[in-house]
Amino acid sequence: MHVLLIGSGGREHALAWALAASPLLSKLYCAPGNAGIAEVATCVGLDIADHAAIVRFCIDNRIDFVVVGPEVPLVAGIVDDLEAANIKAFGPSKAAAQLEGSKGFTKDLCREFAIPTAAYGRFRDRASAKAYVARQTLPIVVKADGLAAGKGVIVAETGQAAEAAIDDCFAGTFGAGGAEIVIEEFLRGEEASVFALVDGEHVLPLATAQDHKRVGDGDTGPNTGGMGAYSPAPVMTPEMMRRTLEEIIRPTVRGMAARGTPFKGVLYLGVMITEDGPKLFEYNVRFGDPECQVLMMRLKSDLLAALVATVDGVLGTFDLRWHDDAALVVVMAAHGYPGDYAKGTEIRGVERARAMPGVEVFHAGTRRNGDRLLANGGRVLCVAARGKTVADAQARAYAGVHAIDWPQGFYRRDIGWRAVARERKGS
Ligand code: AMP
Ligand code: GLY
Repeated sequence: MHVLLIGSGGREHALAWALAASPLLSKLYCAPGNAGIAEVATCVGLDIADHAAIVRFCIDNRIDFVVVGPEVPLVAGIVDDLEAANIKAFGPSKAAAQLEGSKGFTKDLCREFAIPTAAYGRFRDRASAKAYVARQTLPIVVKADGLAAGKGVIVAETGQAAEAAIDDCFAGTFGAGGAEIVIEEFLRGEEASVFALVDGEHVLPLATAQDHKRVGDGDTGPNTGGMGAYSPAPVMTPEMMRRTLEEIIRPTVRGMAARGTPFKGVLYLGVMITEDGPKLFEYNVRFGDPECQVLMMRLKSDLLAALVATVDGVLGTFDLRWHDDAALVVVMAAHGYPGDYAKGTEIRGVERARAMPGVEVFHAGTRRNGDRLLANGGRVLCVAARGKTVADAQARAYAGVHAIDWPQGFYRRDIGWRAVARERKGS
């Protein structure tokens, strides 16, 4: 098969790495890709917002299958445009991508199909939003309705902070994504990320993971796209997974199909394990970054076959095998991230890290200049490892990090701390 992968981050490098191992693959392209992806795919400098150009590339290069990594093109309807040109593509339609594209859409779906989630209200103006807050208990969560690159969620401890968040949203801090807001009850518990392939009707759960969104050690400081992750997530016991499947995922899949907009692709749930069991706090319609990196480290089966089965609607008879090992990934970012940072600084030692037992290095924001590898983004490298336990995977991943020479980069030193503490207590 000729496959085109869309995206340029660590998630896409991990997907490219797994796709490249498929016996079904004859040629892999990636648009736009990065320096790491270029080691396993032919990178093409297409503008991924230009759907007509993508369709033309697919026709000219006899692409059989497109895998869409990020949410922005999905919400913009790239899968609809590819299908209209008879090109198979992995990912939801524009209508089904609303599960990530609009938080209000998802909350209304939860209400209609009795899916457990935080109590909420939807607002288009400041006055009614503030009046709602005044009637609720604190803390309270203010969310931009639309895509906001992971920045549109504010947990407000005081009424004043909630009002400031409301003002920020309506003042355009999150762009068009903030023209409408959702205000919801604060959920107490431990978070986990759950992934499942969905073919419109059938559900094939993937492994679970937990990520670290805050920039600083001890889960402090501003939110980022994700500074590290590990899989499996110990909080997702088999019983919690069963409940999540029956109470959240299946009703969502049935509800989307009943509305005439079936969901196809990978469903990524943010769930809070509360005293009352699992509650949904968000849907994403793509793999998580960096969660995808740890899932790919643990996947034994052929990824490409699974993605094709999803699009073909045959997941009911499909199965996947996983390494029992844990996997953990540490993100290396440029100093200043998630604020301003410099590009173009030199990185050395990636090959040394990759040669270490159980270690893989996925590129997030990199480019090559001759022989030199240069940083080209906020999140730059993802150093991943597999091990018998989370502690073991953690030790290997950090050994990989230490082999990399990049003075202008930084990383968290405690990725996986919760799971490692649990393992210590259990042993
Ligand atoms: P999101 O962008 O929806 O993933 O939200 C970012 C982070 O905000 C999540 O990872 C949660 O830690 C937190 N969050 C979102 N919604 C809630 C909620 N209702 N209660 C508590 N925390 C939340
Ligand atoms: N790791 C968070 C995300 O991909 O949205």
